[in-house]
Amino acid sequence: MNFLEELNKRKTFGIISHPDAGKTTLTEKLLLFGGAIQTAGAVKSNKIKKSATSDFMEIERQRGISVATSVMAFEYRGLKINILDTPGHQDFAEDTYRTLTAVDSVIVVIDVAKGVETQTEKLVSVCRMRNTPIIVFINKLDREGKDAFDLLDEVEAKLGLKVCPLSWPVGMGQRFQGVYSRYEKKLVLFRPHGKQEEDKIEITDLNDPILEKYVGERPAQELREEVNIIEEVYPIFNREDYLDGKISPVFFGSAVNNFGVRELLDCFVDIAPAPLPRITEERLVKPEEDKFAGFVFKIHANMDPNHRDRIAFLRVCSGVFQRNTNYLHVRQGKTMRFSNPTSFMAEKKTVIDEAFPGDVVGLYDSGNFKIGDSVTEGEKLHFKGIPSFSPEQFRYVNNTNPLKTKQFNKGLEQLMDEGVAQLFTRESNGRKIVGTVGALQFDVIQYRLEHEYGAACDYEPVNLYKACWVSCDDDKALKEFKERRKRDLSYDKHGNLVFLAESAWTLQMAQENHPKVEFHFTSEF
Ligand code: G4P
Repeated sequence: MNFLEELNKRKTFGIISHPDAGKTTLTEKLLLFGGAIQTAGAVKSNKIKKSATSDFMEIERQRGISVATSVMAFEYRGLKINILDTPGHQDFAEDTYRTLTAVDSVIVVIDVAKGVETQTEKLVSVCRMRNTPIIVFINKLDREGKDAFDLLDEVEAKLGLKVCPLSWPVGMGQRFQGVYSRYEKKLVLFRPHGKQEEDKIEITDLNDPILEKYVGERPAQELREEVNIIEEVYPIFNREDYLDGKISPVFFGSAVNNFGVRELLDCFVDIAPAPLPRITEERLVKPEEDKFAGFVFKIHANMDPNHRDRIAFLRVCSGVFQRNTNYLHVRQGKTMRFSNPTSFMAEKKTVIDEAFPGDVVGLYDSGNFKIGDSVTEGEKLHFKGIPSFSPEQFRYVNNTNPLKTKQFNKGLEQLMDEGVAQLFTRESNGRKIVGTVGALQFDVIQYRLEHEYGAACDYEPVNLYKACWVSCDDDKALKEFKERRKRDLSYDKHGNLVFLAESAWTLQMAQENHPKVEFHFTSEF
């Protein structure tokens, strides 16, 4: 197979959802279809159990297991499909945001009873920043839930997506009989835990009385009426609009019953994009270019102090990545070669000789990589679109063992490079503030500083609401802002100016008083 064929057979995507909506179950069913796993339950190890939420060591242990499932690849209909796993635990949301920089499309899973939940809103807003194509899967139709039209309204209102239902449920919960696939013009009948293959009935015209035979008179009539409404209200599906992130197809099903999953997968395979170009500060990098280029979007550290190696996950963006070849680590300006790059096939980890655009390679790393680093054949490229997001929790961090200052600084720097949290240095007093998405990260930092670097720290509360990156084209206005808001200023680890707002009100006042200054909630703007 030549390079372009390899490239075009790849589809790299992520599944996102609020915890418990069914992401793990759906992932597992997709892998079963692809033959990548043989048994149900194989992906479950990746899930952080609810009972463990207060015990971060247990969570880290389970996250360790999840290295193996960071990327799950399987073959389906002649394609190679890469699912990049996103941690469900919301304290690791920043990990998920970053993983979304490495996918070309996403599937959003929504629980039919719970509707659109907070975590889904946040994750979809990150996808929308880049116009990532989105397919919606409404799950758990075997249970009573919200009315399908209401749910679509909710998806449009809360997620800001324009939807186009490509399947439609017949009943729900106890009365759930199946879905009508508008995409395939087939009625798929629901048989809990059964094989759906035999229960697909081709119905090109919904007025065909055969519909009554399968679902009964009333449900048949309801389905016809509802599909009529859909046709009047929602736009006609158009792949270009989906690829531009302007319209999202919606499917209904029940992941645990493996129902509606094949329809979702078949449509995904038809419409989802092959590896897309990536923007760098210098130029657009197209996947079909023959020179290799990629970027690191995730670093997974080994918690074992005896093996302080880490795995840096690199997304191949163009050309062919090859084992034992000299590449440029752009930030450090040094040449590196990788003797055992690893690929992941669900449960299996294998050393690979080459990887193509869309693939993710695991590189063993002893501390050279930071999130966002580029690796190329020599060109100095800096990939964009891997921003830091404004954290939600803040604390002062203190070094409590002055004899270990060096270790403390190094440890903190490396943990920040890994993306565990963000560090801000306050201008007025030089103190260090750790900002995180979840409270758990504070424990993780403290534990890892002690066990991996031999340093000690403690925290002090600091009353902060948001950290905003600041920019201003007008030098005079910026100078005035800096003078007037001196005590609220800090710098991130790259030296960018960050405004620390104590409350929503302080932020609003700063915005009103300094109209020429722009406040950003991500580090890239
Ligand atoms: P997550 O990764 O999004 O957090 O969710 P996960 O797949 O683990 O699913 C959360 C719970 O929802 C699981 O039950 C799972 O079995 C259930 N579930 C998934 N899909 C469906 C569905 O289509 N219908 C119904 N009724 N339930 C579904 P659990 O009791 O928390 O775990 P388990 O003991 O079943 O593994």
